[in-house]
Amino acid sequence: MTKAKAEDLDFDTLGFAYHDLPYRYHAEYHNGQWGPGELSTESNLSMSEAAVALHYGLQAFEGMKAYRRQDGGINLFRPIENAKRLQRSADRLLMEPFPVDRFVEAAKEVVKANQDFVPPYESGGALYLRPLLIDTTPNIGLHGGQDFTFVIFATPVGAYYPGGLTPTSFVTSDFDRAAHGGTGQAKVGGNYAASMLPGKKAHDAGYSDVVYLDPIHHEYIEELGSANFFGITKEGQFQTPKSPSILPSITKFSLLEIAREQGLNPIETSISINDLDQFAEAGAMGTAAVISPVGSITHHGQKHVFYSETEVAPVTQKLYDRLTAIQYGDEEGPAGWAVDVPLD
Ligand code: PLP
Ligand code: COI
Repeated sequence: MTKAKAEDLDFDTLGFAYHDLPYRYHAEYHNGQWGPGELSTESNLSMSEAAVALHYGLQAFEGMKAYRRQDGGINLFRPIENAKRLQRSADRLLMEPFPVDRFVEAAKEVVKANQDFVPPYESGGALYLRPLLIDTTPNIGLHGGQDFTFVIFATPVGAYYPGGLTPTSFVTSDFDRAAHGGTGQAKVGGNYAASMLPGKKAHDAGYSDVVYLDPIHHEYIEELGSANFFGITKEGQFQTPKSPSILPSITKFSLLEIAREQGLNPIETSISINDLDQFAEAGAMGTAAVISPVGSITHHGQKHVFYSETEVAPVTQKLYDRLTAIQYGDEEGPAGWAVDVPLD
C-alpha cells in the first residue's frame, strides 16, 4: 500500500478508512520483558504462520482519538482509560499487558510524528489511533504465551456512521455478539468476528448497525455492533444498558458524567426492547461513533421511530456539544480528560 500524503487528503470528507501513515509505534515482548519500542515506518507485521494470534485469536485492540484544538495544539481524550482497558483485555486472554505509562507516551509519540494528519479544527475529523496487542508465540497447542507485539498505528477519520449527526436506522438481530461470562467486556477481535455476519445483513438491508439483545432472553438491549446505546426517557433521564457482556465504553462513562452535570439523572439499567416507547431520544456512543443519533430501531419487522429520522434531538445535541467541546479543547472538562500532546 502506498504511504498517505497529508496534502492529498480532503479532511472535510473523510470517512472511516485506513490510510498508511508515515509512522507507527512498535514494541516486542520476548524473554520475559518488553523491549524499548520505537517509531517505525514499516506498516507490515511479520510473524510465524503458527502465531497464536492468527489461529486462536489471541489479540486485543483499542480505539482512541487525537483532536486538533483551535490554538493548533492537539488533545488526546482520556488515553489512560484506553491503556487500562487494553490491560484488562490482555488479562482476559492471558496476554502480557503493555504498561499504562508507556502506552500513553507511545500514543503521544505517534500523534506527534503524524501531526500533519490530524484533521483541522472544525473539520469534524480526528486522528484515530488503533493500539493493537497480539500474541505472536508460535504454537499449535491451545495456549499462548511468551512473545507479543504491541503496535499503535493511526489514520485520520471523519464520521463513522454515514449520517454523522443525522439520525440513522438500526435493527435487532437473532445473532448474539457475546455471551454473559464470555469476552464481551474485553475489546478483542473475536467479538467483532462474531458480529460481521449480522452486521453485513443489517447493512445490506439498509441499516447502519445491529442492536444486539441479551444472549439469554433476547429481550434486553446490550449494545450496537460498534458502540454503546443510550436513551433519553420522556421524563428526561439518561439511561444506558447494564450488562456483563458489553464493552465498558469510555465515551459511555464520560457521558454518564456529562449527563449528571446536565441534570439528566443518568442510570445504567436493563432496557427491554419492548419498552422503547419510554424514550424520547436514542443514540449510539463510542470513540468512532462519537454520539450518533438513533433515528429508529426495527425489531421483528416493527419500526420504532424516536425523536425524528432526520433531525438530531435536543438532549442528544446538548450531550454532543459538551462532549466534543471538551475533546476539541473548547471547554474545560473534568481533570485528566483532555491530555495535551507536546509537539516540539
Ligand atoms: N461497544 C463496542 C462494541 C465498540 O466497538 C465500541 C468502540 O470502541 C464501544 C462500545 C464504545 O467504546 P469507547 O467509547 O470506549 O470507544
Ligand atoms: C471504536 O469506536 O474505537 C471502535 O473500536 C469501533 C470500531 C468498530 C471502529
